[in-house]
Amino acid sequence: MQVLPTIAEIREARKSLDQPGFVPTMGFLHDGHLSLIRRAIEECGDVVVSIFVNPTQFGPAEDFSRYPRDMERDLAFLREAGVALVFTPNPDEMYPPGFATAIDVGPVAQPLEGAVRPGHFSGVATVVCKLLNIVQPARAYFGQKDIQQCAVIRRLVADLNMPVEIVVGGTVRNTEGLALSSRNAYLSETEQAQATVLHRALQAARTQVELGERNAHVLKAVIGDMLTGEPGLSVDYISVADPDDLRELEWIRDRAVASLAVRVGKTRLLDNVFLTPG
Ligand code: PAJ
Repeated sequence: MQVLPTIAEIREARKSLDQPGFVPTMGFLHDGHLSLIRRAIEECGDVVVSIFVNPTQFGPAEDFSRYPRDMERDLAFLREAGVALVFTPNPDEMYPPGFATAIDVGPVAQPLEGAVRPGHFSGVATVVCKLLNIVQPARAYFGQKDIQQCAVIRRLVADLNMPVEIVVGGTVRNTEGLALSSRNAYLSETEQAQATVLHRALQAARTQVELGERNAHVLKAVIGDMLTGEPGLSVDYISVADPDDLRELEWIRDRAVASLAVRVGKTRLLDNVFLTPG
């Protein structure tokens, strides 16, 4: 496994790979990242992983400087998984003096995370576009846990005719149902237990759909009631939307995704499930 911090080196090393897979990450890897990496290795053989905590997708009051980092541990996981190349740029490599371009993917980036975190998806779209241009993979892998990010990346790749296939992998959870996240490292044990209500609330909505409920407002109320039953939580949003463009739905017809963002203590957590009427 080669670990390369510069764009020139990763471009050169990439030349010897045929149709590689690519998994962009911000590091502090867990089984969610590793499930994408394992799938990429299975489907593509050679896989490139990037580890880059991208400053431009964090707001000024957000956790960029205290975002968890452990490069040695991450590299041990990647070596063990059988990754070919790891790209580990620093911010100056990605954003040299004079850097000025920002990508705005339009309406899909505006609601939900986009509304709570202005500029976040412009930072994500710009860095992912740069990473895809640098690595030029055949396929790039993203997690359903960040469902709006997936929709933003699909829009980006389609609109800019980028020659890459986007693959979305399912959300990996711990045994209590909590979606794995690098930010779970911020949670105390009590908060970890409280956070398990996110998935239970989403599952409750899914059960209601299975029982025939189609009204998105009723489903959001079901989720909201369960969340407010748990002390110490503060809800940023609860959404029932079209998974392709994240537009809110009144009624569920075919594909829909229930998603939420909740603060548990000081930590902001996201989760979602697909709602599929039978
Ligand atoms: P990061 O949060 O490190 O996540 C990297 C990838 O892992 C994303 O595609 C994310 O959706 C996926 N992932 C995270 N938790 C997961 C889980 N529990 N199950 C399955 N997949 C999971 O997302 C980012 O980094 C950044 O925004 C990035 C795309 C790298 C751009 O900077």
